[in-house]
Amino acid sequence: MPKSNIFFVKSPLNYIGGKYKILNQIIPIFPNDINNFIDLFTGGGNVAVNVKAQKIFMNDNLIYLIDLYKLFYELRYNKILKYIYNRIEEYKLSDDNIDGYNRLRDEYNTNRKPLDLFVLVSYSFNHQIRFNNNHQFNNPFGKYRSSFNNFIKNNLENFIHRMQSLNIDFSNDNFECFNFDFLEEYDFVYCDPPYLISTGTYNDGKRGFTGWNSNNEIMLLKILDDLNKRNIKFALSNFLIHNGQINGILKEWISYNNYNVTKIDSNYNNSCYNKKILAQTKTIEVLITNYKTDFSYIDINTDDRNLFFNMEI
Ligand SMILES: C[S@@+](CC[C@H](N)C(=O)[O-])C[C@H]1O[C@@H](n2cnc3c(N)ncnc32)[C@H](O)[C@@H]1O
Repeated sequence: MPKSNIFFVKSPLNYIGGKYKILNQIIPIFPNDINNFIDLFTGGGNVAVNVKAQKIFMNDNLIYLIDLYKLFYELRYNKILKYIYNRIEEYKLSDDNIDGYNRLRDEYNTNRKPLDLFVLVSYSFNHQIRFNNNHQFNNPFGKYRSSFNNFIKNNLENFIHRMQSLNIDFSNDNFECFNFDFLEEYDFVYCDPPYLISTGTYNDGKRGFTGWNSNNEIMLLKILDDLNKRNIKFALSNFLIHNGQINGILKEWISYNNYNVTKIDSNYNNSCYNKKILAQTKTIEVLITNYKTDFSYIDINTDDRNLFFNMEI
């Protein structure tokens, strides 16, 4: 897989399942001339802001995230920075002031000012976005670990400048409600949903995110089939195997439709020589496309034996 020379911008949000580290593998697989690019599950926005397209659609059903991105897109960077520093001053935020963090968290859960979410995430445990059932932000404080440091600040600056150089449209639809009717030949849909056989924070439906189950998976695959019938290109990120468990729905779907599968080198696997342990821990991340790519791909039917270590589906 070629390394790309493009300067990739990293999301200032430490997003679970974020694709920043594998952008150099997935973006070269995308078509060259993209008119409308749909990032249906935009999450940290790592993919959306690094794709070349006439227009980018950032969609995620987490409304608080999209509200934050809208401000990143509209306000000048210096204004946003000033807001962040004012909040840090006002709440005396530091990596050991839990009281200040909790007070700002209450303020955000009451008034929902989008930029407060970003300030909170900077000081929260693992910098993660987490909501409870009542949509209250509830990620704990990242004591002695998290703060609005130079690393986050640089990522924020680059991210905002990159966003503002693009033509972006925002939406917070559930994926099945997104309106695909306007799409035509040179448009492209990228999907990075919660992975059915893994455990992202957003998977279980208990943390302010809607859950992800096999019904969602089947519905998404059907939408992709419909796009395929209309000759609209798509790419879907997923795990074919995770910790030895196969996503059977995905495997059947790929085989039935003869879609292309490109293996992504995401370093999830350990280097143990014990075949049994290897089979139990094996993870294969892939990019599935409805068009041929120039990169090494898996023939899901003929390579079965090697790929699945003779495991049952
Ligand atoms: C794996 S993350 C995307 C990460 C992103 N590609 C990145 O690189 O930062 C998946 C996203 O899907 C969103 N999501 C989950 N269920 C959804 C649904 N039913 N409709 C739309 N978005 C959904 C979650 O809120 C989460 O932000």
